[in-house]
Amino acid sequence: MRTTVAVIGAGPAGLLLARLLDNAGIGNVVLESRDRAYVEQRQRAGILEHGTAEALRAAGAGERMDREGLPHDGIELRFDRRRHRVDLPALTGGKYVTVYAQTEVCKDLIALRLADGGPLLFEAEALAVEGAETAAPRVRYRHGGREEVLECDYVVGCDGYWGVAREAVPQALSRVSERTYPFAWLGILADVPPSHDELVYARHDRGFALLSMRTPVLTRAYLQVPAGTDAADWSDTEIWDELDRRLETDDPAWRLARGPVTAKSVTPLRAHVHEPMRHGRLFLAGDAAHIVPPTGAKGLNLAVGDVVTFARALTRLRDTGDPGLLDAYSDTCLRRVWQAERFSCAMTALLHRAPDATPFDDRLQLAGLDRITAVRSAETDLAEGYTGFPLD
Ligand code: APR
Ligand code: PHB
Repeated sequence: MRTTVAVIGAGPAGLLLARLLDNAGIGNVVLESRDRAYVEQRQRAGILEHGTAEALRAAGAGERMDREGLPHDGIELRFDRRRHRVDLPALTGGKYVTVYAQTEVCKDLIALRLADGGPLLFEAEALAVEGAETAAPRVRYRHGGREEVLECDYVVGCDGYWGVAREAVPQALSRVSERTYPFAWLGILADVPPSHDELVYARHDRGFALLSMRTPVLTRAYLQVPAGTDAADWSDTEIWDELDRRLETDDPAWRLARGPVTAKSVTPLRAHVHEPMRHGRLFLAGDAAHIVPPTGAKGLNLAVGDVVTFARALTRLRDTGDPGLLDAYSDTCLRRVWQAERFSCAMTALLHRAPDATPFDDRLQLAGLDRITAVRSAETDLAEGYTGFPLD
């Protein structure tokens, strides 16, 4: 098989890229190792930055998001039994975020692709990218029990943290920056309306807690737990009790509503950046190139930024012969990636309790939170980071 752009991976990065290339009339083939049901059901984050929602709309993939997504004008910080609302549009000149699950974004993009796009092969596992330094790169993949070759002009590795695309960049040319955290997030989905109409980020001496949602009747919540925790070690009652403790406040109006837990999982916290994000005709996008700690929900948004940048750059080259944007791809993306790493790591540090935290560390965290509530420039900095860094 031959195409212009070989896209490895049908997560949000690969699926949106395929849509953008379809819209631009650039031929592409998507290879995805898992089956459709798996990709459509995998639980991930669900906060779309202002620019991400706009990018989906511009791609003609925002219709259901605009109907069913929940625009959120604020988030709550909870600490020291206090509640503080951060008014996002007031601090950012009108920006807000949209609660719309990543699984729904993927479902919408898969439906569009299957209706009027190029090939999207499920259960097609890329084995290796070859000839990235040449004008004719190839992807070797396995599909239907047979080994095949996809020949192309460009390869975009959208195959996530565990993918194979990154391996085609020689180690001598790669710089990997990493941070691992000694804690993880225990996440639940529960059949109960969210106890608050906006997200609540809570700092507590027992650890971080986050109250989120997927729909007006579906709660998503997280607890900081030690790295290596097995989700099965926590009963539903223990999880609700712990959420109750960590979300405690002096506000007598607050009450945590409990309901049946339908899913439970543990996500490790880590940061990882692979530089550069390009080697010859191989480009890395999304989790294949970078992982952010989940505090602030930047992962999906960064993936969207990468593929919008790539599609724009390749379209420019095709239309004008100017390779400038494509040559700048890695630097352009990495600037935004490092801003998101900075933001996510700072938000993680502000809200989580390290296992070796001292009373001094606790007071520093509380002072940091207090400053956000008291000083408009500090609060603005948080709101700008939360609603997202510009694409250009
Ligand atoms: N061949 C084909 N497909 C592969 C291969 C391979 N060798 N390895 C991995 N994949 C597929 C995975 O099955 C997955 O569907 O690549 C896809 C990668 O998708 P994601 O992990 O979702 O990564 P990405 O599209 O970059 O999305 C960004 O944002 O919220 C965060 O981490 C979260 O998934 C999220 C990410
Ligand atoms: C989520 O709802 O999954 C979520 C929300 C906010 C975050 C991270 C995850 O910062």
